[in-house]
Amino acid sequence: MTLPSPPMSLLAELTHRCPLSCPYCSNPLELERKAAELDTAGWRSVLEQAAELGVLQVHFSGGEPMARPDLVELVSLARKLNLYSNLITSGVLLDETKLEALDKAGLDHIQLSFQDVTEAGAERIGGLKGAQARKIEAARLIRASGIPMTLNFVVHRENVARIPEMFALARELGAGRVEIAHTQYYGWGLKNRDALLPSREQLQEATRAVEAERAKGGLSVDYVTPDYHADRPKPCMGGWGQRFVNVTPSGRVLPCHAAEIIPDVAFPNVQDRTLSDIWNCSPLFNMFRGTDWMPEPCRSCERKEQDWGGCRCQALALTGNAANTDPVCSLSPFHDRVEKAVAEASEKPELVYRRF
Ligand code: SF4
Ligand code: FES
Repeated sequence: MTLPSPPMSLLAELTHRCPLSCPYCSNPLELERKAAELDTAGWRSVLEQAAELGVLQVHFSGGEPMARPDLVELVSLARKLNLYSNLITSGVLLDETKLEALDKAGLDHIQLSFQDVTEAGAERIGGLKGAQARKIEAARLIRASGIPMTLNFVVHRENVARIPEMFALARELGAGRVEIAHTQYYGWGLKNRDALLPSREQLQEATRAVEAERAKGGLSVDYVTPDYHADRPKPCMGGWGQRFVNVTPSGRVLPCHAAEIIPDVAFPNVQDRTLSDIWNCSPLFNMFRGTDWMPEPCRSCERKEQDWGGCRCQALALTGNAANTDPVCSLSPFHDRVEKAVAEASEKPELVYRRF
């Protein structure tokens, strides 16, 4: 049997606990509680097995990974195992002492998220009073430490007009890189889609702002566009079971952060099987790997090894069957569902906040 190539990246969701409650969170609606979380030995074993399997990078994520007291120990282990480590954080739990410890442990990069540029906008989305000031302070500390930093802004209908101010803040805070990421509609984001999905005009304006910033130079800009306004899908996760492996707080191993919605399949856990056995042999990882599973129109499409048929979780959420072509693709027989969602996104519906 030919084994698949090893994953490049591990997304280690250390915890679902988080002081913020953003309504676009990509965590599942059924959040995992503290009592179910892997302990330190469990996470150490995940990192060791990941390095053994051939993983090159680990992204410590959550929830808020800084809520875990063993984060420094895990970063230090990642360094020993030659894993490039990235911390994905809201920054609200960061202070000088913790940052110094992370730096000493060998942390390679920090991705610091911002909900908005205005205090009111940030508090409306994150739901935490005073969060914006704490994030700005965190950015200053990170800048002073010399750890490479990317600022991440998730954009949506309410804040998308402020992209130029987001770039100005990134420059002011000395970030080398900024990511403007349109909300992805999974988990809580899908629940709040009608409130968050920008109009086509807003998207065009956002894209112009990104292009204008790129033309200025000096700041590296990543731009993640919203699927719903595209006519070809993204290669979600670089293809199912091809580049990413995701481990949830309780040790479930998934091909993407949203895969727990896939019905009629067992979700393997590192507490029961090795990471390598799960990656190479589990029915979940082999379900949509490669191109053999594809229906038409993907099966005979020249893009099938570029976008891998798009996103399985989106296909499931919008068509009821994860094995369908991603309906974002205009060749999909279900593409009208995406157009309908765009047409029906309303002006001011209530936000449903992420909560346990
Ligand atoms: Fe991609 Fe399938 Fe659409 Fe072709 S038909 S562009 S492979 S989603
Ligand atoms: Fe699961 Fe795209 S989010 S395959």
